[in-house]
Amino acid sequence: MKCYTLKEYASIHSTNDCIKRLAAKNAPEWTVILAKRQTKGRGRRERRWASQKGGLYFSVLLYPKHVEHLQVLTFAAALAVLKAIRKHCPVSPCIKWPNDILINHRKVCGILTETTLGERVSCIVGIGLNANQTKFPKEIRGTATSLLRETGKKFGVRVLASSILKNFHQLYLSFEGGNHKKILDEWRQQCITLGKNVFISSTGGTFSGKAAGVTDEGMLRVKLPSGKIRIVAEGDASIR
Ligand code: BTN
Repeated sequence: MKCYTLKEYASIHSTNDCIKRLAAKNAPEWTVILAKRQTKGRGRRERRWASQKGGLYFSVLLYPKHVEHLQVLTFAAALAVLKAIRKHCPVSPCIKWPNDILINHRKVCGILTETTLGERVSCIVGIGLNANQTKFPKEIRGTATSLLRETGKKFGVRVLASSILKNFHQLYLSFEGGNHKKILDEWRQQCITLGKNVFISSTGGTFSGKAAGVTDEGMLRVKLPSGKIRIVAEGDASIR
């Protein structure tokens, strides 16, 4: 049985924005909006998310009970995507902190989780997976890839979406059952950032160091050249 209710659009501004409006009207949990393209796809840190035809763009509405560990939900989503890619494509994806999925050092998927506080906390998990794109805008041409570019094969976006959603639902049940630490441990095993020299760019500035670990709240622990540890809550970590 399907664990979600999916509505599909040919074109939409942003699936996250659409779900946000539905959350304001108390739409049920596991409402999913999928679009073939987005005209105002949004990424982390106010960036735009290139959303031309061929990619997979969808958002899920959740009302989690364990609001103290919300960061882990993004990690669960990353694991769900990773497992689906591994199931359907002969490639080796990995996760880069905080939530990028890479293949051969290029980004194939990004996740934007947005939380709204109200009577209950609503959490919108938006996933953008480059499935069948052959070209990317100039600004990401050197850093982005797609499943098609990596394998030479076309992929059914609905098949990928249903596989991701199935995995995500299982992980969500585990999360709601109090297993956030187990999910974090699984995520840590797939994260290539840990142990690497990184260049951090965050609202707190830019600096370099060694990624020494990820806290239970999902923050990156960076060991500075001085030996001190700096905790990074948000930002980008490029691997050196
Ligand atoms: C990132 O910057 O890495 C996160 C990108 C998230 C993009 C997805 S596509 C579906 C959903 N709708 C949006 O507007 N953004 C997210």
